[in-house]
Amino acid sequence: MKNIVVLISGSGSNLQAIIDACNSGQINGKISAVFSNVPDAYGLVRAQQAGIKTEVVEPKNFANRLDYDLALADAIDNYAPDLVILAGYMRILSPAFVSRYTGKMLNIHPSLLPEYPGLHTHRRAMENGDREHGATIHFVTEELDGGPIILQAAVPITAQDSEADVMKKVQVQEHRIYPLVVSWFVDGRLTMRDGKALMDHQALPAHGHTEK
Ligand code: GAR
Repeated sequence: MKNIVVLISGSGSNLQAIIDACNSGQINGKISAVFSNVPDAYGLVRAQQAGIKTEVVEPKNFANRLDYDLALADAIDNYAPDLVILAGYMRILSPAFVSRYTGKMLNIHPSLLPEYPGLHTHRRAMENGDREHGATIHFVTEELDGGPIILQAAVPITAQDSEADVMKKVQVQEHRIYPLVVSWFVDGRLTMRDGKALMDHQALPAHGHTEK
């Protein structure tokens, strides 16, 4: 069974979806630890309630980003993960950290990348008059929110929607597609080679896998 480590900074609703999918058997894997850079992140409570080990590594205890990331990676590597999942982990990663997990680190981002990398994606999409928003799961590379796309899910934005409404719709999709992609990875169907995401040995198109 594949060994998974999850990194969070906040509420951990995506972590919860992945915990639930491990428990139901949708994901043939085990979360061995959840790490947070934020001591009071609610996701830590979710992990503890599920009997998963938690560790907090706080940036304030380190001189710079690289020192922090190397200490974090050393702590992660104690669990020898097959897969590292970023689930609302809100820190920029140094190249040294990213290169340690090339091809085995996934991120979820609340936009239809390459649109709206960075923060406040829902607001920016609404301010831009977009009629559609969504979420993307991708392999992590050194480019912020720029790694090869595995799967996207779109939701409509209506004239009545508040920012909170759009966030909610996007999260419903996130909680569906993240467990699905993790299951593909642990089943050995998903790999990264030469900067491309491959599904069943076939390179995926730029926007990722198309759901039928
Ligand atoms: C999710 O919506 C995720 O897409 C976003 O943070 C939220 C975490 O929610 N991630 C990013 O913005 C990363 N750039 P959660 O803690 O409830 O899973």
